[in-house]
Amino acid sequence: MKRPNIFCHMTMSLNGKIVGNYHQAKNAGDAGKLFYHAAFEPGGAFDPNEGWLSGRKTTDDNFTFYRHPDLDLSAARVPDGDFIVPNTHPKYYFSIDPHGRLGWQSNQLQYNDTTATVVEVLTNQASNAYKAFLRQKQISYVIAGDTTLDAPLAISKLTTAFHLHRIMLGGGGVLNWSFIKQGLCDEVSIVLIPGVDGDSQSPAIFQPLTSDDPERLVNFTLKSATPVGNTLWLRYLVDHD
Ligand SMILES: NC(=O)c1ccc[n+]([C@@H]2O[C@H](COP(=O)([O-])OP(=O)(O)OC[C@H]3O[C@@H](n4cnc5c(N)ncnc54)[C@H](OP(=O)(O)O)[C@@H]3O)[C@@H](O)[C@H]2O)c1
Repeated sequence: MKRPNIFCHMTMSLNGKIVGNYHQAKNAGDAGKLFYHAAFEPGGAFDPNEGWLSGRKTTDDNFTFYRHPDLDLSAARVPDGDFIVPNTHPKYYFSIDPHGRLGWQSNQLQYNDTTATVVEVLTNQASNAYKAFLRQKQISYVIAGDTTLDAPLAISKLTTAFHLHRIMLGGGGVLNWSFIKQGLCDEVSIVLIPGVDGDSQSPAIFQPLTSDDPERLVNFTLKSATPVGNTLWLRYLVDHD
């Protein structure tokens, strides 16, 4: 299968969580800057890359804020298949949105000083009205899977349509596990923040679903461990067995 190098890059608390106020830990130092520089700025460890993948909850928490899309339920039937908008922008935000739920207002987003073009990854569960909504907003989409996401197909289609060489697997935990368990991740980069909070509901960096195989084991080989103040930057290669 043709696919880019895929690196998972995340901040994480000492107890393996990816959401919460551990980010404000007294000794967090410049962990946020370290995280951003590595993947989003020239000269960072993962520069260049063509963009990043995010799960639907991550997108709603950070960019679309649980807005409902403005759907025309009587929209004319859209053509079958994918919809790719020609684009010269160098960065993409690949939004894994199996059911077509996200209320985008534009086909671009801003993350710090990074501008990215939104691309939706749908399954056949997404409605005609949602696809018409994306077309009206000039948001590209690919369809990968019937009832559930076919992640290898999604990556294969994105690679061909957007000429990908390296992309980031950018969370949350559900998305990360769904890719890593299928061999769709080559390296894991963790900015380990020295804080723990008391939130019992927050997802782990790799968050299996109850339907996942509890026996599935993924192995890693340490590439580097770099202390930066009280933060530790860990890089592991994923063993493909
Ligand atoms: N610390 C960090 O570096 C970092 C980085 C990124 C995100 N985060 C945080 O992580 C939190 C969200 O994490 P999360 O694990 O709860 O959710 P998530 O992975 O962001 O999103 C999960 C949702 O994405 C869709 N999805 C993703 N992969 C899928 C697959 N293989 N098959 C089917 N559906 C798939 C499903 O959407 P539907 O439910 O619509 O079907 C699923 O419910 C956010 O609060 C975000 O801010 C932290």
